[in-house]
Amino acid sequence: MTEIAKKPIKITETILRDAHQSLIATRMTTEQMLPIVEKLDQVGYHSLECWGGATFDASLRFLKEDPWDRLRKIRDKAKNTKLQMLFRGQNILGYRPYGDDVVEYFVQKSIANGIDIIRIFDCLNDLRNLETAVKAANKEKGHAQVALSYTLGDAYTLEYWTNIAKEIENMGADSICIKDMAGLLLPYTATELVTALKETVKIPIQLHTHYTSGVGSMTYLKAVEAGVDVIDCAMSPFALGTSQPATEVMVETFKGTPYDTGYDTKLLEEIADYFRPIRDEALESGLLNPKNMGVNIKTLIYQVPGGMLSNLTSQLKDLHAEDKYYEVLEEVPRVRQDFGECPLVTPSSQIVGSQAVMNVVGGERYKMVTKESKDLLSGHYGKTVKPFNEEVQKKCIGDAEVITCRPADLVPNELETLEAEMAQYKEQDEDVLSYALFPQVAVEFFKYREAQKTKMDATVADTKNGAYPV
Ligand code: CO
Repeated sequence: MTEIAKKPIKITETILRDAHQSLIATRMTTEQMLPIVEKLDQVGYHSLECWGGATFDASLRFLKEDPWDRLRKIRDKAKNTKLQMLFRGQNILGYRPYGDDVVEYFVQKSIANGIDIIRIFDCLNDLRNLETAVKAANKEKGHAQVALSYTLGDAYTLEYWTNIAKEIENMGADSICIKDMAGLLLPYTATELVTALKETVKIPIQLHTHYTSGVGSMTYLKAVEAGVDVIDCAMSPFALGTSQPATEVMVETFKGTPYDTGYDTKLLEEIADYFRPIRDEALESGLLNPKNMGVNIKTLIYQVPGGMLSNLTSQLKDLHAEDKYYEVLEEVPRVRQDFGECPLVTPSSQIVGSQAVMNVVGGERYKMVTKESKDLLSGHYGKTVKPFNEEVQKKCIGDAEVITCRPADLVPNELETLEAEMAQYKEQDEDVLSYALFPQVAVEFFKYREAQKTKMDATVADTKNGAYPV
């Protein structure tokens, strides 16, 4: 066994992305973020995760904000720290596979607007779905990090993880992330996994977990001792529960050891003081649900990521079937087995979750089948680690064609068509990408943006005429 060098641990701060996505449905606004970015920039973090994932959708849909504008404003204030985003492989930040030209253009524009590190993952760990994004990031001189969607199951042996890590290194990734979205990685398993990966590949290994099952900081401790290079943490006001382990806690833990981050505790305290009232406000308004803050040991049994738990709750609420919560939780692993033992992360988490809801609420398994379930079972999301349950596949898709190629090979280049469709709304190059991802939501946003401008122009005109708006 090779001797593991003990070195200061690096931290990626997630408070501007995953932390609020996991705890308050991605509702932190740019206005809430900007006043603290300069201080975050002084900490010396490895990176600041601030974009991608659900932030893009939530900005346009709920906050009526331009996500590109948010990125530029953060970049403007974070002069020293690398900015990081989360990217769903060929699905970009959306829910379907896009043409390669759209993926390439999105990567190009993300980097041009300020992103340094792109964390790219696929919900099935089908590396074919990551190729285009990784190549594009290489070409734009960005840091391409490939994330393994971590999950448990018969197929997921150490050999599986080390083989796929080797492939990732060979495909030109700059680092690997173990993306433990559900908090399933136990401390001693982390020792084994990190040790095995460090022995297999030369590129850095980063670990991302969620506190859902309550083991997060212990997992980090063991992973750090095993030589992991970077850990993902969130400032305490938006840490724990379905979010990440707390930054300050990990910093304190490693103080005076060879893993010492060297971060300024006083500065971290000031940052925490800034976010605490935002947390209090979210608690008061109900946006932050205390249910998502405790330990949910059931995640270890049902393997349901934090974001998925809250989605299931709201789906059942809409159907007036909240009493079926535990039945649905028990159905989730069965559907997952039927669907090739796939990891549960966007979008497979939503597909499996919605199908589990239908199977329970519908009174018969697979009597109602979503379009997404059908697409998954016909290979349109890629290859699963295990074969599908043939009986279920037959019941859901009948004799429909099953594909085995890289799904995006069937998606022609589409940038020109998209440009033509949205030309009337275009104010910046990036608008076509917002439109590509969320056509209806983006158009609504473009109209809103236009209306705001007209309103502002009118105000300026009124003011010039000596009249003031009331
Ligand atoms: Co996460």
